[in-house]
Amino acid sequence: MHPQVSAGTLTPRARLTSDAPEQLLDGKWRFRLSSSLRGAPAGEWQTANSAHWAEIDVPGHWNLQGFESPAYSNHQMPFPLDPPYPPDVNQIGDYRVDFDTDAALQRQRVVLRFDGIESAAEIWLNGDLLGTTRGSRLTQEFDVTASLRESGNQLAVRVMQFSDASYIEDQDMWWLPGIFRSVTLLARPEGGLDDVFVIADYDPATGAGMLDVQVDVDARLTIPALNVDAVAKGQIKVGPVEPWSAETPTLYDAEISTSTEKVRLRIGFRRVHTEGARLFVNGRPIMLRGVNRHEHNPDKGRVFEPERVRAELSLMKRHNINAVRTSHYPPHPEVLDLFDELGFYIIDECDLESHGFEHSEWRRNPSNDDAWREAYLDRIRRTVNRDKNHPSVIMWSLGNEAGTGANLEAMSAWVKSFDPSRLVHYEGDWSSTYVDVYSRMYASHEEVVQIGRETEEPAPIAATAAEMHRRTLPFIQCEFGHAMGNGPGGVAEYWDLFEQHPRLAGGFIWEWIEHGLAVAGADGARRIAYGGDFGEVVHDGNFVIDGLVSADLEPRPGLIDYAAIIAPVRIAVAADRSRVELANRYDMVTLDHLELVWRRKVDGVEVASGVLEASGIEPRSRTSIPLAEAASDVVETKIADVLTIEARLRDRTSWAPAGHVVSVGEDVRAASQELPEPADVVATTSRVGAASFNAVDGALTALGELPIAGPSVGIWRAPTDNDRYPGWDEVDLPPFADRWHESGIDRTVSRFISAEPESASLTVRTRTGTPIRETGIEGTFTWTALSSTAVRLDVTLEPRGNWTADWARLGLDFVIPSPPQGLEFFGLGPGQSYPDSASGVSHDWWSVERKDLTVDHVRPQESGSRRDVREATVQTDAGALTVRTLSQPFALTISPHSRQTLAATTHNADLVADGNTYVSIDIAQSGVGTATCGPGILQRYRVAPQPGRISLILSAAPTGS
Ligand code: GAL
Repeated sequence: MHPQVSAGTLTPRARLTSDAPEQLLDGKWRFRLSSSLRGAPAGEWQTANSAHWAEIDVPGHWNLQGFESPAYSNHQMPFPLDPPYPPDVNQIGDYRVDFDTDAALQRQRVVLRFDGIESAAEIWLNGDLLGTTRGSRLTQEFDVTASLRESGNQLAVRVMQFSDASYIEDQDMWWLPGIFRSVTLLARPEGGLDDVFVIADYDPATGAGMLDVQVDVDARLTIPALNVDAVAKGQIKVGPVEPWSAETPTLYDAEISTSTEKVRLRIGFRRVHTEGARLFVNGRPIMLRGVNRHEHNPDKGRVFEPERVRAELSLMKRHNINAVRTSHYPPHPEVLDLFDELGFYIIDECDLESHGFEHSEWRRNPSNDDAWREAYLDRIRRTVNRDKNHPSVIMWSLGNEAGTGANLEAMSAWVKSFDPSRLVHYEGDWSSTYVDVYSRMYASHEEVVQIGRETEEPAPIAATAAEMHRRTLPFIQCEFGHAMGNGPGGVAEYWDLFEQHPRLAGGFIWEWIEHGLAVAGADGARRIAYGGDFGEVVHDGNFVIDGLVSADLEPRPGLIDYAAIIAPVRIAVAADRSRVELANRYDMVTLDHLELVWRRKVDGVEVASGVLEASGIEPRSRTSIPLAEAASDVVETKIADVLTIEARLRDRTSWAPAGHVVSVGEDVRAASQELPEPADVVATTSRVGAASFNAVDGALTALGELPIAGPSVGIWRAPTDNDRYPGWDEVDLPPFADRWHESGIDRTVSRFISAEPESASLTVRTRTGTPIRETGIEGTFTWTALSSTAVRLDVTLEPRGNWTADWARLGLDFVIPSPPQGLEFFGLGPGQSYPDSASGVSHDWWSVERKDLTVDHVRPQESGSRRDVREATVQTDAGALTVRTLSQPFALTISPHSRQTLAATTHNADLVADGNTYVSIDIAQSGVGTATCGPGILQRYRVAPQPGRISLILSAAPTGS
């Protein structure tokens, strides 16, 4: 007996699609919850009448079905670090289901399979103790032949929320106990196929496939499409094959059969290897455009729903993602089928993390404790065996954040002897003595450059043999770009490095999906909850809300940005528009499956379009193709002349319709602005043409019929999640949000200096100051009447005093006392962009609905800035405001909430719109960075205190005009 290991379970084996009968036991079970083992009923409960117990859905988590509540903690264990003991207060869920055995399973050997029980269980059938489980996200099977009856079976499962194994299941996620994956009875025919392991190799030199088949009984293998009909044993040459890759996920239907059982496989031929510090698939270097994926569903936690997961993975494919790390445990087994079919490179990660030991400086870490050796080996054997026939799996990951130690080394040794066809990954082994790729998380751009050059620390002279060995390995960032709240910023800069240095084989954004949980608020309305919302004593707040998509799978701006950064085609237009430069960044295929369509819009009107010819462009190559004159001749424009080129799918795929846009390139020729003539009116301190002012403080009160207040000078934003954490590049400094508060830019006050009319103009001077300090900004606002509806505003801003912190932005804020309806603009869109997360936007005339003006982050924060805007019309219930630049383009943010409200509200469900439209016209806007995990805002994207100037035309119109 080993502690922390399942007992009574069968040897782990492959997940197989068999024609042997199966009986699914999922459905309504009986359930009873106790708050501790001591309080859990003893005696003969496994067979006693359970009819009076509550009902529960299996699969499911009990704390998402009304029994107690979920809890979230990142690496902190929710109970004392006292291994291997769970706390006394430990929810115990007793499950019961009574069933008759299907006729097809009777009088056979039968196995009972659990695909996931969190965290540990004791299993009884008809009063017989079958055994115990450890390994929440791992398959556990029991031979039930001796206990199973034809009818009236009583299956009893006692699940502990926490167990000794919780110390090695400390992943950053909700603690969600229960039988959360399916429970199945499987007939095991005499002479059947208990286990099958097929390694399907592809020889890039000859194009031939080679199978290595391991089956424990005499069987035959057939692959009709390849005319294979052979004894299913050992090496089988299959001649020329189409290889499997994420870009060409060719699968061959195969069958392995004995006289009593047939097993269906979908075989993908491919070869994974490393050489000269590069990562190869099928002999070609590959780039992993990845995300970390947890299993999450806001209503059901980690319960698998096939349709939802297919939608989820299709969404990834439509955003150019080609790789997934199954952080931090093997997903539901059917997810692997989808990975194979849709085409993803997978790092399949073992269910293992002992991160909590960071809080004891890693003392007593199970990873280096002999007593836990078997637990570690058992977990990796279960992981590898279940998924070993999936071509999508290119690496086995030993786990996440479990420190380092002999048990991890032992896992690696076992994997290498069992499955030499794949690579071993583990991020914690920085010296890379027992892994095949050098993997890190959140390494800074500077460090990634060093790694790319194979000159990472320590210097070559001091390097040990292990470190020299590490330099022969390819590098991946298994986590980077922490997608929490507004962000991540700086991802394009990482990607440029990945493309410059062949050693860098890509990375995986942390993470794919936000783990918000849907709950009913006091008013009954659905709201999204995070850590602490359930009264947890130990929790990590909204750190669980990080993802490229919301918990409901809505793309966040970070996903749009990432899709463009990793796009497999880069389209660049020459300055004179004579040619287009195409970079094929696919690793395996030409661009022949794409149609390259161009269109030209002048001042919003399409004037020409066409299709570009580009066939046979090899993977990882570039070419330049000429553009038609109709795309490039010089024409007159009032705002801009925009040439857009889209690479679109020619044919529909299983994950996108025909015409789906894979990549966009553009060229913009902006009009030079003619300065308008002033109108023939006389300005006063209360009126300049269409603009009305308060003569006491020089503030604008109306434009025509539209009430509007402003402008005030704004240099703050509602802190983003990233603004609230110190960047890893400057850990000694407080986060930006604190620096801003300290310097007072969140509480500026304005003083009116003067208002001086002169012919058609009024010049207003103000000073915007920070509390306590001498710092401030002097503003000069000159209003000039242009027509009965339009005024010109020339602004000069001069910082005064000794500023100690960078600003969030530099801009002008207006308030229209009426709710926003929508926005139309020419600029970068359609969604938001910040200077360091601006790859997924392009220039056009965009129309934005009210709900899309800002991003509905679960924790409210700054969002929604549209950049490079030349002209915009904001519609409100009271009328429309149009702003046009006469100088440089600006960034525009339209929100129904003030920044103070956003900053003070902790959940989006609690945000109440106050009926105003907040309009910000920014001359400068800070990047967002990824300080929640990783570097903060890169220096070049910060807004140092600086002067600013801008000239605008403002006009108003009644609603609907
Ligand atoms: C990493 C960890 C992830 C997640 C992330 C922060 O250290 O591997 O599981 O916790 O940090 O969101």
